[in-house]
Amino acid sequence: MPSVEGLGARRAALQMLDAVLRRGQTLEAASSSVRNLSPPDHALAVAISGEALRRLPDLDALIDSATRQRLPDDSKARNVLRLALAQKAGLGTPDHAVVATALPLVDGGPRRLVHGVLGTLLRRGLPEMDAPRLPDDVEDRWRSAWGGAVVQSARRLISRRPPLDLTFADDGEAQAYAQAHEAISLAPRHVRVPSAAVAELPGFEEGRWWVQDLAASLPARLVPSGARDVLDLCAAPGGKTMQLAAAGHNVTAVDSSGSRLGRLRENLARTHLDARLVEADALKWKAGGQYDAILLDAPCSATGTFRRHPEVLYRARPKVIAEGTELQSQLLDRAAAWLKPAGTLVYSVCSLEPQEGEEVVRAFLERSPEFQIENAQDPPDFAVAAADGSFRILPGVLEDRGGLDGFFMARLVRAG
Ligand SMILES: C[S@@+](CC[C@H](N)C(=O)[O-])C[C@H]1O[C@@H](n2cnc3c(N)ncnc32)[C@H](O)[C@@H]1O
Repeated sequence: MPSVEGLGARRAALQMLDAVLRRGQTLEAASSSVRNLSPPDHALAVAISGEALRRLPDLDALIDSATRQRLPDDSKARNVLRLALAQKAGLGTPDHAVVATALPLVDGGPRRLVHGVLGTLLRRGLPEMDAPRLPDDVEDRWRSAWGGAVVQSARRLISRRPPLDLTFADDGEAQAYAQAHEAISLAPRHVRVPSAAVAELPGFEEGRWWVQDLAASLPARLVPSGARDVLDLCAAPGGKTMQLAAAGHNVTAVDSSGSRLGRLRENLARTHLDARLVEADALKWKAGGQYDAILLDAPCSATGTFRRHPEVLYRARPKVIAEGTELQSQLLDRAAAWLKPAGTLVYSVCSLEPQEGEEVVRAFLERSPEFQIENAQDPPDFAVAAADGSFRILPGVLEDRGGLDGFFMARLVRAG
C-alpha cells in the first residue's frame, strides 16, 4: 500500500493524545517519548494533539451529533476523530488531507463508522470554535470560585496562541529591546513579543533575557530588594532564580528534580548569572541556617498554565488537587522554619484552584501566628489584590494584550 504523506505525524499525535488522556502524562512527556520523527513532523504531531486538547468538549459534542452509535471515551476511533477535526478547526488542514491521514489510523477499528462521521461533519462544515468549552468539571469549579466572566475569558484564551514574555536582567535593556522591536513592555524588565521560535529571537544566544510569563515573574518581584541571602525553594527550571540573581541577591536554589536543575544550570550559564544549586527533596533537606527571604513557588496542578499546556485541565482531578494542597502546606511549614525573624516568605502557585492558593495560605496563617500577610507596596496595576493582601491573576487580566497565566501569590512576613 502506498504510504500516505503526513501519516507518521498523525500516528504520533494519536500516541500523544492517548498518553495524556488515558495515562495522565503531560504533553511534553508524551511527546518526548515519541522518537524517530523529523523535527517538523514532531512539531506537527504536538500541534495537532495540542489543538485537540484545546477543544476536546466541543469536538466530542460534534462527534456525538454525527452518530447514534456512541464511541467510548478515549477509544482509538474517538481519538482519531478528535485529531482529524482539530486539524480542520485549528490548523486549517484541507478536508482531503484530514480524511486521508485519519482512516489508516483506525486499523482494526470501526473504519466505516469513522469515515461516515468524518464525512458528515466535513460536509456540514465545522462551527466557529474561537471560544471552545473547557471540561465541565473545570468550568463548574472556576465558575463557583471566580464567576462566569472568568470562565468565558478562559474559553476565549484557550483557543489563541499566547504571546511570549521575556524577562530581562536589566530594565534599560528591556526598554531598548521593546523600542527596537516594536514590542510592548508591561512592567519593568519585561517585554512581550508575538509567539515565536525562542532561539531565533535576537539576544537569546547572548543571554540577554529568558522566557517567563509575566504573571510568573511577579512572585520574585515581591522579594524585598534588601534581602541578602535568599532561598529559592522548588526553583527549577529557574525563571525566578534568574530574577533573584539578577537583582543581586545571594541565591540558593533547591529542587528535587536533577533533570530540571540541569535546565536551570544551562539557563544560568546562558544568562551569565550565578546561584548555588542544590538537588534535594525540600521535605528532607537540612537548610543548615536561616535566610533573609524565601521564595516558595510550590508544585501544583498548574491549571493557570492552561493556555500553553491545555492538558492540565484533564490532569487536575480533585484527588490531584487535594494531594497538591497537602504537599504545598508541608513545604510552607518547612520554609517557615528557615526564615530569619522579620524575614519575608513569598508563596506562589501557577494554579487557578483556591485550595492551592488562598486556602493553603489561610490555613498556614492559622497555625503560624508569628506570620502575617504584608501588602505589597508597589503591585503592578494589573495584579488583583485581595482584601487579605494576597494577589490573584485570573483569566481576563490584560486579555486585550494577550492575557497572563493564572497565578496566586502572597508575601508573608515573620514577626521580628
Ligand atoms: C512550579 S515548579 C517551579 C518553577 C520554578 N520556580 C521557576 O520559576 O522556574 C515546581 C518545582 O518543584 C519541584 N519539586 C516538587 N516537589 C519537590 C520537593 N519535595 N522538594 C524540592 N522540589 C520539589 C519540581 O521539581 C518543580 O521543579
